[in-house]
Amino acid sequence: MPGGVSSPVRAFKSVGGQPVVFDRVKGPYAWDVDGNRFIDYVGSWGPAICGHAHPDVIAALQEALEKGTSFGAPCELENKLAEMVIEAVPSVEMVRFVNSGTEACMAVLRLMRAFTGRDKVIKFEGCYHGHADMFLVKAGSGVATLGLPDSPGVPRSTTANTLTAPYNDLEAVKELFAENPDAISGVILEPVVGNAGFITPEPGFLEGLREVTKENGALLVFDEVMTGFRISYGGAQSRFGVTPDLTTMGKVIGGGLPVGAYGGKAEIMSMVSPAGPMYQAGTLSGNPLAMTAGIKTLELLKQEGAYEKLEATTKRLITGIIDAAKGSGLSITGSSISAMFGFYLCEGPVRNFEEAKSADTERFGKLHNAMLERGIYLAPSAFEAGFTSLAHSDDDIEATLQAFRESFALIK
Ligand SMILES: Cc1ncc(COP(=O)(O)O)c(C=O)c1O
Repeated sequence: MPGGVSSPVRAFKSVGGQPVVFDRVKGPYAWDVDGNRFIDYVGSWGPAICGHAHPDVIAALQEALEKGTSFGAPCELENKLAEMVIEAVPSVEMVRFVNSGTEACMAVLRLMRAFTGRDKVIKFEGCYHGHADMFLVKAGSGVATLGLPDSPGVPRSTTANTLTAPYNDLEAVKELFAENPDAISGVILEPVVGNAGFITPEPGFLEGLREVTKENGALLVFDEVMTGFRISYGGAQSRFGVTPDLTTMGKVIGGGLPVGAYGGKAEIMSMVSPAGPMYQAGTLSGNPLAMTAGIKTLELLKQEGAYEKLEATTKRLITGIIDAAKGSGLSITGSSISAMFGFYLCEGPVRNFEEAKSADTERFGKLHNAMLERGIYLAPSAFEAGFTSLAHSDDDIEATLQAFRESFALIK
Protein backbone atom coordinates (compact mmCIF):
# COMPACT_ATOMS: atom_id res chain seq x y z
CA MET A 1 0.00 0.00 0.00
CA PRO A 2 1.40 3.45 -0.85
CA GLY A 3 2.92 4.80 2.35
CA GLY A 4 1.56 1.75 4.15
CA VAL A 5 -1.88 3.31 4.53
CA SER A 6 -5.27 3.59 2.86
CA SER A 7 -5.53 7.37 3.40
CA PRO A 8 -2.51 9.74 3.61
CA VAL A 9 -2.80 11.54 6.99
CA ARG A 10 -2.79 8.20 8.81
CA ALA A 11 0.87 7.73 7.93
CA PHE A 12 2.08 10.32 10.52
CA LYS A 13 4.26 12.02 7.87
CA SER A 14 3.75 15.49 9.32
CA VAL A 15 4.25 14.57 12.98
CA GLY A 16 6.98 11.98 12.63
CA GLY A 17 7.15 8.63 14.36
CA GLN A 18 5.37 5.44 13.46
CA PRO A 19 1.64 5.28 12.79
CA VAL A 20 -0.32 3.35 15.39
CA VAL A 21 -1.93 0.20 14.04
CA PHE A 22 -5.36 -0.16 15.61
CA ASP A 23 -6.82 -3.48 16.64
CA ARG A 24 -10.16 -2.42 18.11
CA VAL A 25 -12.13 0.57 19.32
CA LYS A 26 -14.79 1.06 21.98
CA GLY A 27 -16.36 4.19 23.45
CA PRO A 28 -13.68 6.91 23.67
CA TYR A 29 -10.85 4.39 23.39
CA ALA A 30 -8.74 2.71 20.74
CA TRP A 31 -6.37 -0.20 21.36
CA ASP A 32 -3.38 -0.90 19.16
CA VAL A 33 -2.21 -4.35 18.09
CA ASP A 34 0.24 -4.39 21.03
CA GLY A 35 -2.60 -3.92 23.49
CA ASN A 36 -1.89 -0.25 24.34
CA ARG A 37 -4.98 1.84 25.04
CA PHE A 38 -5.44 5.39 23.77
CA ILE A 39 -8.06 8.03 24.52
CA ASP A 40 -9.08 8.87 20.99
CA TYR A 41 -9.82 12.39 19.72
CA VAL A 42 -9.98 11.46 16.06
CA GLY A 43 -13.11 9.31 16.28
CA SER A 44 -12.51 7.76 12.87
CA TRP A 45 -12.25 11.37 11.59
CA GLY A 46 -15.74 12.28 12.72
CA PRO A 47 -18.27 9.48 12.57
CA ALA A 48 -17.79 8.22 16.16
CA ILE A 49 -19.76 11.01 17.84
CA CYS A 50 -21.62 8.57 20.12
CA GLY A 51 -18.35 6.83 20.95
CA HIS A 52 -16.86 3.97 19.01
CA ALA A 53 -18.87 0.80 18.53
CA HIS A 54 -21.84 2.01 20.55
CA PRO A 55 -23.74 -1.06 21.77
CA ASP A 56 -27.04 0.15 20.25
CA VAL A 57 -25.42 0.72 16.87
CA ILE A 58 -23.70 -2.66 16.96
CA ALA A 59 -26.93 -4.44 17.97
CA ALA A 60 -28.88 -2.73 15.17
CA LEU A 61 -26.15 -3.66 12.70
CA GLN A 62 -26.14 -7.29 13.81
CA GLU A 63 -29.87 -7.47 13.23
CA ALA A 64 -29.58 -5.78 9.84
CA LEU A 65 -26.71 -8.04 8.84
CA GLU A 66 -28.98 -11.08 9.01
CA LYS A 67 -31.10 -9.55 6.26
CA GLY A 68 -28.16 -9.07 3.92
CA THR A 69 -25.48 -6.48 3.27
CA SER A 70 -26.59 -4.86 0.04
CA PHE A 71 -29.84 -4.85 -1.90
CA GLY A 72 -29.08 -2.74 -4.96
CA ALA A 73 -32.78 -1.95 -4.82
CA PRO A 74 -34.84 0.55 -2.85
CA CYS A 75 -34.91 -0.21 0.87
CA GLU A 76 -37.15 1.09 3.62
CA LEU A 77 -34.20 2.18 5.71
CA GLU A 78 -33.16 4.77 3.11
CA ASN A 79 -36.53 6.41 3.48
CA LYS A 80 -36.20 6.49 7.24
CA LEU A 81 -32.75 8.07 7.21
CA ALA A 82 -33.82 10.49 4.46
CA GLU A 83 -36.76 11.60 6.60
CA MET A 84 -34.49 12.10 9.61
CA VAL A 85 -32.03 14.18 7.60
CA ILE A 86 -34.79 16.26 6.01
CA GLU A 87 -36.37 16.89 9.38
CA ALA A 88 -33.07 17.94 10.94
CA VAL A 89 -31.20 19.94 8.31
CA PRO A 90 -32.90 23.22 7.36
CA SER A 91 -31.75 23.35 3.72
CA VAL A 92 -32.60 19.75 2.89
CA GLU A 93 -35.95 19.00 1.24
CA MET A 94 -34.65 16.10 -0.85
CA VAL A 95 -31.58 13.97 -0.34
CA ARG A 96 -29.47 11.47 -2.33
CA PHE A 97 -27.27 8.97 -0.51
CA VAL A 98 -23.80 8.10 -1.79
CA ASN A 99 -20.82 6.29 -0.24
CA SER A 100 -18.38 8.98 0.85
CA GLY A 101 -18.00 12.68 1.40
CA THR A 102 -15.85 12.91 -1.69
CA GLU A 103 -18.63 11.46 -3.79
CA ALA A 104 -21.18 13.82 -2.26
CA CYS A 105 -19.07 16.90 -3.01
CA MET A 106 -18.25 15.72 -6.52
CA ALA A 107 -21.94 15.23 -7.25
CA VAL A 108 -23.00 18.51 -5.68
CA LEU A 109 -20.58 20.39 -7.89
CA ARG A 110 -22.07 18.76 -10.97
CA LEU A 111 -25.49 19.72 -9.67
CA MET A 112 -24.43 23.33 -9.10
CA ARG A 113 -23.31 23.50 -12.70
CA ALA A 114 -26.35 21.68 -14.06
CA PHE A 115 -28.79 23.92 -12.22
CA THR A 116 -27.16 27.26 -12.99
CA GLY A 117 -25.71 26.47 -16.42
CA ARG A 118 -22.43 28.00 -15.20
CA ASP A 119 -19.07 26.24 -14.89
CA LYS A 120 -17.06 28.14 -12.29
CA VAL A 121 -17.10 27.54 -8.55
CA ILE A 122 -15.61 29.43 -5.61
CA LYS A 123 -13.95 27.49 -2.81
CA PHE A 124 -11.86 28.67 0.11
CA GLU A 125 -8.18 28.15 0.79
CA GLY A 126 -7.71 25.36 3.32
CA CYS A 127 -11.20 23.91 2.87
CA TYR A 128 -11.25 20.26 1.88
CA HIS A 129 -14.11 18.83 -0.13
CA GLY A 130 -12.75 15.39 -0.87
CA HIS A 131 -10.28 14.41 -3.52
CA ALA A 132 -12.15 15.07 -6.76
CA ASP A 133 -10.00 16.87 -9.34
CA MET A 134 -11.70 20.24 -9.29
CA PHE A 135 -11.39 20.57 -5.51
CA LEU A 136 -7.66 19.90 -5.32
CA VAL A 137 -6.82 23.55 -5.41
CA LYS A 138 -5.55 25.06 -2.18
CA ALA A 139 -7.23 22.21 -0.34
CA GLY A 140 -6.86 21.41 3.35
CA SER A 141 -6.62 18.06 5.15
CA GLY A 142 -3.91 15.69 3.90
CA VAL A 143 -3.17 17.98 0.97
CA ALA A 144 -2.23 20.73 3.41
CA THR A 145 -0.47 18.39 5.77
CA LEU A 146 1.78 17.01 3.09
CA GLY A 147 2.41 20.43 1.58
CA LEU A 148 0.98 19.55 -1.82
CA PRO A 149 -0.29 22.82 -3.27
CA ASP A 150 -1.98 20.81 -5.95
CA SER A 151 -1.77 17.25 -7.15
CA PRO A 152 -0.08 15.91 -10.25
CA GLY A 153 -2.66 14.24 -12.45
CA VAL A 154 -5.18 17.01 -12.04
CA PRO A 155 -5.62 18.60 -15.46
CA ARG A 156 -5.24 22.36 -15.50
CA SER A 157 -8.37 22.54 -17.61
CA THR A 158 -10.32 21.04 -14.72
CA THR A 159 -9.13 23.42 -12.05
CA ALA A 160 -9.36 26.44 -14.34
CA ASN A 161 -12.96 26.71 -13.25
CA THR A 162 -12.12 26.61 -9.54
CA LEU A 163 -11.68 30.06 -8.04
CA THR A 164 -10.31 30.44 -4.53
CA ALA A 165 -10.61 33.04 -1.80
CA PRO A 166 -9.26 33.29 1.74
CA TYR A 167 -11.72 32.01 4.36
CA ASN A 168 -13.60 34.74 6.24
CA ASP A 169 -12.87 37.23 3.43
CA LEU A 170 -16.20 38.34 2.03
CA GLU A 171 -14.66 41.15 -0.01
CA ALA A 172 -12.51 38.67 -1.93
CA VAL A 173 -15.64 36.70 -2.81
CA LYS A 174 -17.41 39.84 -3.99
CA GLU A 175 -14.42 40.67 -6.19
CA LEU A 176 -14.49 37.21 -7.78
CA PHE A 177 -18.16 37.65 -8.60
CA ALA A 178 -17.46 41.08 -10.08
CA GLU A 179 -14.60 39.71 -12.20
CA ASN A 180 -16.64 36.73 -13.45
CA PRO A 181 -20.12 38.03 -14.21
CA ASP A 182 -22.77 35.32 -14.78
CA ALA A 183 -20.07 32.62 -14.79
CA ILE A 184 -20.01 31.38 -11.18
CA SER A 185 -22.34 28.54 -10.29
CA GLY A 186 -21.86 29.01 -6.58
CA VAL A 187 -19.76 29.04 -3.46
CA ILE A 188 -18.90 25.89 -1.53
CA LEU A 189 -17.37 25.95 1.94
CA GLU A 190 -16.98 24.23 5.25
CA PRO A 191 -19.22 26.45 7.38
CA VAL A 192 -16.80 25.75 10.23
CA VAL A 193 -13.41 24.67 8.92
CA GLY A 194 -12.04 21.40 10.22
CA ASN A 195 -9.49 20.64 7.53
CA ALA A 196 -7.07 23.48 8.13
CA GLY A 197 -7.04 22.99 11.86
CA PHE A 198 -10.17 24.49 13.34
CA ILE A 199 -11.37 27.87 12.06
CA THR A 200 -14.71 29.40 12.91
CA PRO A 201 -16.66 31.79 10.70
CA GLU A 202 -16.43 35.43 11.76
CA PRO A 203 -19.73 37.11 12.57
CA GLY A 204 -21.46 38.07 9.31
CA PHE A 205 -19.32 35.88 7.03
CA LEU A 206 -21.88 33.12 6.41
CA GLU A 207 -24.71 35.67 6.22
CA GLY A 208 -22.66 37.72 3.75
CA LEU A 209 -22.08 34.68 1.54
CA ARG A 210 -25.81 33.97 1.59
CA GLU A 211 -26.48 37.49 0.37
CA VAL A 212 -23.78 37.71 -2.27
CA THR A 213 -24.66 34.36 -3.84
CA LYS A 214 -28.33 35.30 -4.00
CA GLU A 215 -27.53 38.67 -5.58
CA ASN A 216 -25.48 36.95 -8.27
CA GLY A 217 -27.90 34.14 -9.10
CA ALA A 218 -25.43 31.62 -7.68
CA LEU A 219 -25.86 28.78 -5.19
CA LEU A 220 -24.54 28.58 -1.65
CA VAL A 221 -23.34 25.12 -0.66
CA PHE A 222 -22.35 24.09 2.85
CA ASP A 223 -20.06 21.11 2.95
CA GLU A 224 -21.25 19.63 6.22
CA VAL A 225 -19.49 16.30 5.80
CA MET A 226 -17.63 17.09 9.02
CA THR A 227 -19.99 19.54 10.74
CA GLY A 228 -23.29 17.81 9.95
CA PHE A 229 -24.95 16.48 13.12
CA ARG A 230 -21.79 17.50 14.98
CA ILE A 231 -21.95 21.29 15.29
CA SER A 232 -25.60 20.77 16.21
CA TYR A 233 -28.23 18.19 15.31
CA GLY A 234 -29.11 20.31 12.25
CA GLY A 235 -25.45 21.01 11.47
CA ALA A 236 -23.65 24.35 11.28
CA GLN A 237 -26.50 25.83 9.24
CA SER A 238 -28.86 25.24 12.12
CA ARG A 239 -26.44 26.58 14.71
CA PHE A 240 -25.61 29.74 12.74
CA GLY A 241 -29.09 30.28 11.30
CA VAL A 242 -27.91 30.53 7.68
CA THR A 243 -29.61 28.23 5.20
CA PRO A 244 -27.64 27.28 2.09
CA ASP A 245 -29.21 26.02 -1.13
CA LEU A 246 -27.43 22.67 -1.01
CA THR A 247 -25.64 20.65 1.65
CA THR A 248 -23.23 17.74 1.57
CA MET A 249 -22.96 15.29 4.45
CA GLY A 250 -21.10 12.14 5.45
CA LYS A 251 -19.29 10.80 8.52
CA VAL A 252 -21.88 11.01 11.37
CA ILE A 253 -24.85 10.10 9.16
CA GLY A 254 -23.14 6.80 8.37
CA GLY A 255 -22.48 5.99 12.03
CA GLY A 256 -19.08 4.55 11.14
CA LEU A 257 -20.00 2.89 7.87
CA PRO A 258 -19.22 4.39 4.46
CA VAL A 259 -21.82 7.04 3.67
CA GLY A 260 -22.16 10.41 2.03
CA ALA A 261 -25.20 12.43 1.07
CA TYR A 262 -26.16 15.59 -0.70
CA GLY A 263 -29.42 17.40 -0.46
CA GLY A 264 -31.15 20.72 -0.69
CA LYS A 265 -34.05 22.56 -2.17
CA ALA A 266 -36.46 20.25 -4.02
CA GLU A 267 -36.32 22.53 -7.05
CA ILE A 268 -32.59 21.93 -7.37
CA MET A 269 -32.49 18.28 -6.28
CA SER A 270 -35.15 17.48 -8.88
CA MET A 271 -32.38 17.89 -11.44
CA VAL A 272 -30.81 14.66 -10.17
CA SER A 273 -31.34 11.48 -12.18
CA PRO A 274 -33.85 9.83 -12.53
CA ALA A 275 -36.06 12.75 -11.43
CA GLY A 276 -34.03 14.97 -13.75
CA PRO A 277 -31.21 14.93 -16.30
CA MET A 278 -28.11 15.20 -14.05
CA TYR A 279 -26.57 11.76 -13.87
CA GLN A 280 -25.26 10.28 -10.65
CA ALA A 281 -25.50 6.70 -9.42
CA GLY A 282 -23.92 4.14 -7.06
CA THR A 283 -23.89 0.34 -6.69
CA LEU A 284 -23.78 0.36 -2.88
CA SER A 285 -25.54 3.68 -2.31
CA GLY A 286 -28.19 3.55 0.41
CA ASN A 287 -27.13 0.06 1.48
CA PRO A 288 -28.97 -1.30 4.52
CA LEU A 289 -25.95 -1.52 6.83
CA ALA A 290 -24.87 2.08 6.40
CA MET A 291 -28.46 3.27 6.66
CA THR A 292 -28.94 1.28 9.87
CA ALA A 293 -25.82 2.66 11.53
CA GLY A 294 -26.82 6.17 10.48
CA ILE A 295 -30.37 5.89 11.78
CA LYS A 296 -29.27 4.49 15.13
CA THR A 297 -26.58 7.16 15.52
CA LEU A 298 -29.04 9.97 14.83
CA GLU A 299 -31.52 8.44 17.28
CA LEU A 300 -28.86 8.49 19.97
CA LEU A 301 -27.98 12.10 19.16
CA LYS A 302 -31.63 13.10 19.35
CA GLN A 303 -31.78 12.13 23.02
CA GLU A 304 -32.17 15.05 25.34
CA GLY A 305 -29.01 16.68 26.53
CA ALA A 306 -26.71 15.04 23.97
CA TYR A 307 -25.41 18.28 22.47
CA GLU A 308 -25.23 20.04 25.82
CA LYS A 309 -22.97 17.24 27.03
CA LEU A 310 -20.82 17.38 23.90
CA GLU A 311 -20.48 21.15 24.19
CA ALA A 312 -19.52 21.02 27.87
CA THR A 313 -17.01 18.18 27.44
CA THR A 314 -15.32 19.89 24.53
CA LYS A 315 -15.24 23.31 26.17
CA ARG A 316 -13.62 21.80 29.26
CA LEU A 317 -11.03 20.09 27.10
CA ILE A 318 -10.03 23.11 25.00
CA THR A 319 -9.98 25.46 27.99
CA GLY A 320 -7.72 23.01 29.79
CA ILE A 321 -5.43 22.63 26.77
CA ILE A 322 -5.03 26.41 26.42
CA ASP A 323 -4.35 26.81 30.15
CA ALA A 324 -1.81 23.98 30.08
CA ALA A 325 0.09 25.50 27.14
CA LYS A 326 0.12 28.96 28.68
CA GLY A 327 1.23 27.42 31.96
CA SER A 328 4.32 26.23 30.11
CA GLY A 329 4.83 29.63 28.51
CA LEU A 330 3.84 28.49 25.03
CA SER A 331 1.90 30.53 22.48
CA ILE A 332 -1.44 28.97 21.67
CA THR A 333 -4.81 29.90 20.23
CA GLY A 334 -7.73 27.53 20.20
CA SER A 335 -11.48 27.17 20.31
CA SER A 336 -14.34 24.72 20.18
CA ILE A 337 -17.92 24.55 19.03
CA SER A 338 -20.06 21.65 20.12
CA ALA A 339 -18.07 18.43 19.60
CA MET A 340 -15.29 19.93 17.48
CA PHE A 341 -12.16 21.69 18.67
CA GLY A 342 -8.74 22.79 17.56
CA PHE A 343 -5.68 24.73 18.58
CA TYR A 344 -2.65 26.22 16.90
CA LEU A 345 0.74 26.68 18.50
CA CYS A 346 0.96 30.37 17.62
CA GLU A 347 -0.25 33.66 19.01
CA GLY A 348 -3.33 33.93 16.78
CA PRO A 349 -5.93 34.91 15.89
CA VAL A 350 -6.35 32.37 13.10
CA ARG A 351 -9.08 33.42 10.70
CA ASN A 352 -7.89 31.73 7.53
CA PHE A 353 -5.45 29.17 6.19
CA GLU A 354 -2.66 31.68 5.69
CA GLU A 355 -2.76 32.61 9.36
CA ALA A 356 -3.03 28.92 10.32
CA LYS A 357 0.26 28.31 8.54
CA SER A 358 2.09 30.44 11.09
CA ALA A 359 1.50 27.68 13.67
CA ASP A 360 4.60 25.85 14.90
CA THR A 361 4.16 22.50 13.15
CA GLU A 362 7.51 21.14 14.27
CA ARG A 363 6.57 21.65 17.90
CA PHE A 364 3.16 20.15 17.21
CA GLY A 365 4.91 17.01 15.98
CA LYS A 366 6.79 16.78 19.28
CA LEU A 367 3.58 17.36 21.20
CA HIS A 368 1.84 14.64 19.22
CA ASN A 369 4.56 12.13 20.01
CA ALA A 370 4.59 13.07 23.71
CA MET A 371 0.81 12.70 23.92
CA LEU A 372 0.93 9.36 22.16
CA GLU A 373 3.42 8.12 24.74
CA ARG A 374 0.90 9.15 27.39
CA GLY A 375 -1.95 7.24 25.76
CA ILE A 376 -3.68 10.10 23.97
CA TYR A 377 -4.42 9.82 20.26
CA LEU A 378 -4.68 13.23 18.60
CA ALA A 379 -5.07 13.79 14.86
CA PRO A 380 -1.58 13.31 13.43
CA SER A 381 -1.48 16.77 11.87
CA ALA A 382 -1.49 20.37 13.04
CA PHE A 383 -4.13 21.05 10.40
CA GLU A 384 -6.97 18.77 11.45
CA ALA A 385 -9.75 19.47 13.92
CA GLY A 386 -10.22 17.28 16.98
CA PHE A 387 -13.41 15.42 17.77
CA THR A 388 -15.01 14.51 21.07
CA SER A 389 -17.87 12.09 21.65
CA LEU A 390 -20.66 11.33 24.07
CA ALA A 391 -18.44 8.58 25.45
CA HIS A 392 -15.65 10.88 26.67
CA SER A 393 -16.09 11.08 30.45
CA ASP A 394 -14.84 13.74 32.85
CA ASP A 395 -12.13 11.30 33.91
CA ASP A 396 -11.02 10.88 30.28
CA ILE A 397 -10.80 14.64 29.89
CA GLU A 398 -8.85 15.02 33.13
CA ALA A 399 -6.43 12.26 32.10
CA THR A 400 -6.02 13.98 28.74
CA LEU A 401 -5.32 17.36 30.34
CA GLN A 402 -2.75 15.83 32.67
CA ALA A 403 -1.02 14.38 29.59
CA PHE A 404 -1.14 17.81 27.92
CA ARG A 405 0.39 19.47 30.99
CA GLU A 406 3.26 16.99 31.01
CA SER A 407 3.74 17.14 27.24
CA PHE A 408 3.72 20.92 27.00
CA ALA A 409 6.27 21.09 29.81
CA LEU A 410 8.43 18.66 27.86
CA ILE A 411 8.35 20.48 24.51
CA LYS A 412 8.44 24.12 25.62
C1 LIG B 1 -15.56 18.80 4.89
C2 LIG B 1 -15.23 17.52 4.20
N1 LIG B 1 -15.70 17.31 2.96
C3 LIG B 1 -15.45 16.17 2.30
C4 LIG B 1 -14.67 15.18 2.85
C5 LIG B 1 -14.41 13.92 2.11
O1 LIG B 1 -15.09 12.87 2.71
P1 LIG B 1 -14.59 11.34 2.52
O2 LIG B 1 -13.29 11.24 3.21
O3 LIG B 1 -15.70 10.56 3.16
O4 LIG B 1 -14.50 11.11 1.07
C6 LIG B 1 -14.15 15.37 4.12
C7 LIG B 1 -13.28 14.34 4.74
O5 LIG B 1 -12.63 14.52 5.72
C8 LIG B 1 -14.44 16.56 4.82
O6 LIG B 1 -13.95 16.79 6.05
